[in-house]
Amino acid sequence: MSIAEPVKKETAAATGSLTVKDNRDGKSYELPIARGAITAADLHKIPGEDIGLLNYDPGFMATAAVKSAITYIDGDKGILRYRGYPIEELAEKCSFLEVAYLLLNGELPSDQQLATWADEVTHHTFVHENIKEFMHGFRHDAHPMGMLMSTVAALSTFYPEAKRIADEKPRRTQIVRLIAKMPTIAAFAYRHSRGLPYVYPDNDLAYTANFLNMLWKTTELKYEPDPILAHALDVLFILHADHEQNCSTSTVRVVGSSRSDPYSAVAAGVGALYGPLHGGANEQVLRMLEDIGSVDRIPEYVARVKKGEFRLMGFGHRVYKNYDPRARIIKKVADQVFTVTGRNPLLDIAIELEKIALNDDYFVSHKLYPNVDFYSGIIYQAMGFPVEMFTVLFAIGRTPGWLAQWEEGLLDADQKIARPRQIYTGKGERHIAE
Ligand code: CMC
Repeated sequence: MSIAEPVKKETAAATGSLTVKDNRDGKSYELPIARGAITAADLHKIPGEDIGLLNYDPGFMATAAVKSAITYIDGDKGILRYRGYPIEELAEKCSFLEVAYLLLNGELPSDQQLATWADEVTHHTFVHENIKEFMHGFRHDAHPMGMLMSTVAALSTFYPEAKRIADEKPRRTQIVRLIAKMPTIAAFAYRHSRGLPYVYPDNDLAYTANFLNMLWKTTELKYEPDPILAHALDVLFILHADHEQNCSTSTVRVVGSSRSDPYSAVAAGVGALYGPLHGGANEQVLRMLEDIGSVDRIPEYVARVKKGEFRLMGFGHRVYKNYDPRARIIKKVADQVFTVTGRNPLLDIAIELEKIALNDDYFVSHKLYPNVDFYSGIIYQAMGFPVEMFTVLFAIGRTPGWLAQWEEGLLDADQKIARPRQIYTGKGERHIAE
């Protein structure tokens, strides 16, 4: 029996088949095609060397390890939808909490459902006082992603019932807690790095406005966030909320597949996001733009990228071989933010860099376009965030996606503990000399 009650076990009907002829012995095999895929299990029935045939796919370039009803991406057309809704509509018409609800429940909330959901999240924003002590133990220059990752993992020790992942009620409570506490932990990490006292959540404020309060409040009795900035950050959270089976989400699912609690799974996801090829790219983009320094140095920089000395950060994507739709929305958000903060001079470098790259044969032939991280850092910097905080902001936005995918994996009767195979390339059997 499965540890969590599976939603349903489905066997997809085959829509065709693939005939594979094994030229080693002339035998033919028929592999059913369902949902646009053959299964590795069918392929494995064909004899390999020691065991059945395996498909070797480093980086999972063409391997679907899950089926999912959450996010749809068409990378060639530059389409992104959550639960069927285009990202452009969600960014324009919804709040981050509505989108979080949508990802987790499959439908947008009614007014009543949204009020209940927002109330639940708001009432879990506080963290146990010992968490403050825990965070206090970090060095003054600790990277906030390291602090976030460790503190999220530490939360599992505060909520032992989080292990009861098969019971819907405690499972859902941890989901609410994680979404509610991520901004609190993120803000505490920031305040720690600045040597500032922690600011407790203000439950009169909406989700993102409260986050700004915990970051920036000083001596005023009531912090009043700028509504344009609060809205802009809310939109950025929406754009980051899910992106199907990316590196960090797959990590969350893999950890979840061993039936560990969601804090442990999400902490692992934060670790995966930290890397410069994934969420850490937004930090690297800012450092790159600062390093370029002026528009006249772009051609020389691009030439070095083409020589293979380094990558153009914020460009390229495993799935998008067209403009990342999120980057397009972010450019619009930037204009709104700059009406409040003033224009970030790095924007001129970014726009010129994009123009040069998109007209260059190397980038065109490799289908490299700006991704979500290319412009987000410029906005974050204009809003006053230090570069180390950029990936933390990504993590806050991605949390509902991680949790929706974690729960979907848990309830999917097809899923098993993740355990890839390998192709052994080491020595054959040998013995220690007498
Ligand atoms: N600059 C220069 N060349 C690149 C870049 C880049 N940013 N990205 C890919 N290439 C080249 C790469 O050198 C390779 O060339 P060739 O075939 O001639 O050897 C080709 O394009 C394919 O690259 P790949 O590494 O096989 O592609 P991938 O799908 O494994 O990698 C990626 C995707 C996002 C890791 C990669 O494009 C990259 O490193 N980009 C820069 C980092 C970045 O911006 N990451 C954020 C991704 S979006 C948000 C997120 O996921 O968090």
